Amino acid sequence: MKITCLGAGYVGGPTMAMIAAKCPDIEVTVVDPNEERIAAWNSDKLPVYEPGLDEIVRSVRGKNLHFKTDVESAIRSGDIIFVCVGTPTKTYGVGAGRAADLRYIEGAARMIAAVAEKPKIIVEKSTIPVKTAEALLTILRSNSRHGNFQVLSNPEFLAEGTAIADLKNPDRILIGGERTPEGEAAVQTLVKIYERWVPQERILTTNLWSSELSKLVANAFLAQRISSINSISALCEATGADVEEVAHAIGTDSRIGPKFLKASVGFGGSCFQKDILNLVYLCQHFGLPEVAAYWESVVRMNNWQKNRFTRQIVETLFNTVSGKRIAVLGFAFKKDTNDTRESPAIQIVRGLLEENANVVVYDPEVPAEAIQRDVLGEGKTDARLQVVNSAVEAAKGAHALAVMTEWDEFRTLDFNAIYAGMHKPAFVFDGRNILPRADLAKKGFRVFAIGKSALVP
Ligand SMILES: NC(=O)c1ccc[n+]([C@@H]2O[C@H](COP(=O)([O-])OP(=O)(O)OC[C@H]3O[C@@H](n4cnc5c(N)ncnc54)[C@H](O)[C@@H]3O)[C@@H](O)[C@H]2O)c1
Repeated sequence: MKITCLGAGYVGGPTMAMIAAKCPDIEVTVVDPNEERIAAWNSDKLPVYEPGLDEIVRSVRGKNLHFKTDVESAIRSGDIIFVCVGTPTKTYGVGAGRAADLRYIEGAARMIAAVAEKPKIIVEKSTIPVKTAEALLTILRSNSRHGNFQVLSNPEFLAEGTAIADLKNPDRILIGGERTPEGEAAVQTLVKIYERWVPQERILTTNLWSSELSKLVANAFLAQRISSINSISALCEATGADVEEVAHAIGTDSRIGPKFLKASVGFGGSCFQKDILNLVYLCQHFGLPEVAAYWESVVRMNNWQKNRFTRQIVETLFNTVSGKRIAVLGFAFKKDTNDTRESPAIQIVRGLLEENANVVVYDPEVPAEAIQRDVLGEGKTDARLQVVNSAVEAAKGAHALAVMTEWDEFRTLDFNAIYAGMHKPAFVFDGRNILPRADLAKKGFRVFAIGKSALVP
């Protein structure tokens, strides 16, 4: 059997590496027209940073895992085609700012229809609105010579930063297919692949629409928990309650559970906001404005939390950061990834620049060009935004430190040396609640953390 994957991004690369590792008898080819990305997948510096990814790619690359740019021939030879292309939020026309932009999905379907010479199973792994499979089937069946395709929905639930562990040991695999004998047979073909390493009871099969909708709903529920605890973090700061104590107290209730209750500067990543907005758009489309407003509030709360953090920095630094040096520690949207899409750091750094601050950013995995591009736009520079190679360098001569990403290395920095090199009073704003607050206060820092009372000597 041959598998082809369209899209060598954060999902396509790691997912196919896992399938290749677990199924040595299957030839897996990942294709992407982006030459730079494919060259990186074939090099020692992979385009995606994920713990454990290097090892797994090295173990199968060149054996049964291949990264190529020749999309057409890979489609021709594949029996199963996974579609892992991007589905960003539409920026133009009807549904701009909400609906999913399906041009890459449609482009992939049209290309498959044009070049496929034999029956194929097409697997939607990208996150898409409900009923996209129907559109794909229509395009495939009306544009191909043989028209013999099955489309399955198999949304990916991996989280960046823990992608390899998630792929190795998923909570569940979801496969949706047409409720016809041919559809059921296609579902079983995919089930047999996952069964090589996933226990049968964790492989759920549903109809196409349930599967497509479940992915959007899962992300909406996860993001809702973050916005819920973030809303409470503001109340904690106002009242003297401690958000971590509240989260622990409610999380021990087995009906609530402890996960996704960490207050922070806000959620980021390429998926949560886009998928909720997509859900909002669907609800509006189906005449359910109250349901749309309910889910949209999750995104509104997240934006408010990001702006609240910027406001707190400005207000605490005596209502002006103009000309002051602010050290920003971390830029990725979470630890253990180099992905910066929708990272809260982008909005917060922009807010600080608008207040005329000098911002110095350090992130262990995100390159300087990506930080400049995300904040300022492609090819633009601004003397007030600097990127450096260590946290200590960023903190030198700073008026304040602001932690944006929970990288482990920030927990154990030499805070004595950092304090000595900073302007006084030296401020710390911990946007992830990872720093040793009491110790920092003892050293003389003025410490502000999400959902906690300020510690001011
Ligand atoms: N990133 C995540 O954590 C995550 C998790 C679950 C699901 N998803 C979903 O998976 C999908 C992909 O996400 P990603 O983060 O990997 O995106 P990405 O932007 O990193 O990668 C998408 C890739 O698809 C390529 N592409 C576009 N058209 C193509 C075509 N016709 N043929 C071959 N390649 C093509 C692009 O060049 C790009 O490299 C999205 O729908 C996303 O919502 C992402």
